[in-house]
Amino acid sequence: MTARPRVVVVGALPALGIELMRQRLEVDPGPIRPERSWLREHVSGAAAIVADPGVPIDAALLDAAGASLKVVANFAVGYDNIDLEAVRARGIRATNTPDVLTNATAELAITLMLAAARRVTEADALTRSGEWQEEQALLGRELAGATVGLVGFGRIARRVAELLRGFEVLLLVSARSRIAAPSGAEQRELEDLLASADFVSLHVPLSSETRYLIDASRLAQIKRGAVLVNTSRGGVIDTAALIDALRSGRLGAAGLDVYEHEPQVPRELRELPNTVLLPHIGSATGKTREAMARLCVENVLAVIEGREPPTPVV
Ligand code: GLV
Repeated sequence: MTARPRVVVVGALPALGIELMRQRLEVDPGPIRPERSWLREHVSGAAAIVADPGVPIDAALLDAAGASLKVVANFAVGYDNIDLEAVRARGIRATNTPDVLTNATAELAITLMLAAARRVTEADALTRSGEWQEEQALLGRELAGATVGLVGFGRIARRVAELLRGFEVLLLVSARSRIAAPSGAEQRELEDLLASADFVSLHVPLSSETRYLIDASRLAQIKRGAVLVNTSRGGVIDTAALIDALRSGRLGAAGLDVYEHEPQVPRELRELPNTVLLPHIGSATGKTREAMARLCVENVLAVIEGREPPTPVV
């Protein structure tokens, strides 16, 4: 009997994904964040690697896998962890899990806007401390009547725009190319959007073009006191500059789900009262994670069985 193809699974793939793959493949499950040495050893001779954006997949790792490797399947929509040139050069495939997580991530972006605007973390901490007194007003801001700027206008930003309809905001969007802005929204240059928006929400993938897109000079362009929300990638913001802007009050608040060096969250951010900090849970609902697991497994099986994967990146 010929041995079944082996898939090495690291990252956050839920148990359902492992069970589904076990029906057709040999599964080699590893830690969520494996040591490099563990990964190099285990990928040798594997047909597939399942990973997520916290696991770098570079040329050296692909070489360690060898000629048996057919696919790198990311359990995520983002794939900034994968060296796509190295994947292409080896004639293998890379896949991701788009669409199924669009709504969950868009809802989380709005959650962060509202939580930061209404000072939910401060209010929650105060209530839990037992120090609540009537005069602690904790005044916040409302979305209604505010200007919201979406930076990037892919699937998730479009869903945010749809969900915001009921909030009566003025919507601005910035995108690299000319887009058909949804009705009631205006496309603006990034600088103009930053200067006008009360809430800025980032929806760009991380690439060499978007690394530190929001740096000290862009933070200085943001309307004083605005709320900045990031559910995309931590590397899109210069964290040191963000901390300075939050400390000085130039930025009113930040709602963050992603960080430059996850899972580390800088102490300065954790100590600031005007931050809402989440541990990268944009897609973390039961329904969405299950759909992502099914799609990720289907991508792996398709490539191994010689079919076109449903959501290829390469
Ligand atoms: C999460 O960060 C994703 O890219 O799906």
